[in-house]
Amino acid sequence: MSAERRLFFALSLPAKMQKQVIKWRADNFPAETGRPVAAANLHITLAFLGEVSALKEAALTRVAGRIQGQTFSLMLDDIGHWPGSGVVWIGTRRAPNALLQLASVLRSHAARNGCHQSTLPFHPHVSLYRNATRPVTIPPATPGWQLDATEFSLYESLFERGRTRYHCLQTWPLGDMQET
Ligand code: 2AM
Repeated sequence: MSAERRLFFALSLPAKMQKQVIKWRADNFPAETGRPVAAANLHITLAFLGEVSALKEAALTRVAGRIQGQTFSLMLDDIGHWPGSGVVWIGTRRAPNALLQLASVLRSHAARNGCHQSTLPFHPHVSLYRNATRPVTIPPATPGWQLDATEFSLYESLFERGRTRYHCLQTWPLGDMQET
């Protein structure tokens, strides 16, 4: 029996932006808000795959390599709290079409390969806190970071010595819009 790995497709945040976000988070939320997500773990999930066999992983990796996604920029200008899942997040008020298309194609390939997909609509976000189940005072605005997405990656989620760590397995470039 081959081992399964917990995988997801995501956009990473540049290291500089990760540092800016955690500084802003520390300045704008009380410590008791929830469990802060580590700077290196800040990301936007495109498609969650769950526990995946090596065979399924190979199929999804092949599919990812054939996707002709476009580069895009998104503003991280929205903030929210989902008390049910205990997540405080930053997101965008205007999701670019290229982002929605990329997530949609990855999610439909995931579903076709037997990876259960949430029926909730895709809501691009960066999780800042987990276990935030009590009411949270949300700051009125974010500084409005601009994320320029030029690639997407497949990550493995690992739980080691009591901590979650995401290991990047493979990255694929997004292309520029072709002139017609
Ligand atoms: P999120 O923090 O953006 O919500 C790796 O576990 C990532 O996959 C998590 O950071 C989470 O993204 C997302 N994830 C985990 N479990 C999930 C599930 N059951 N459905 C959808 N996304 C999930």
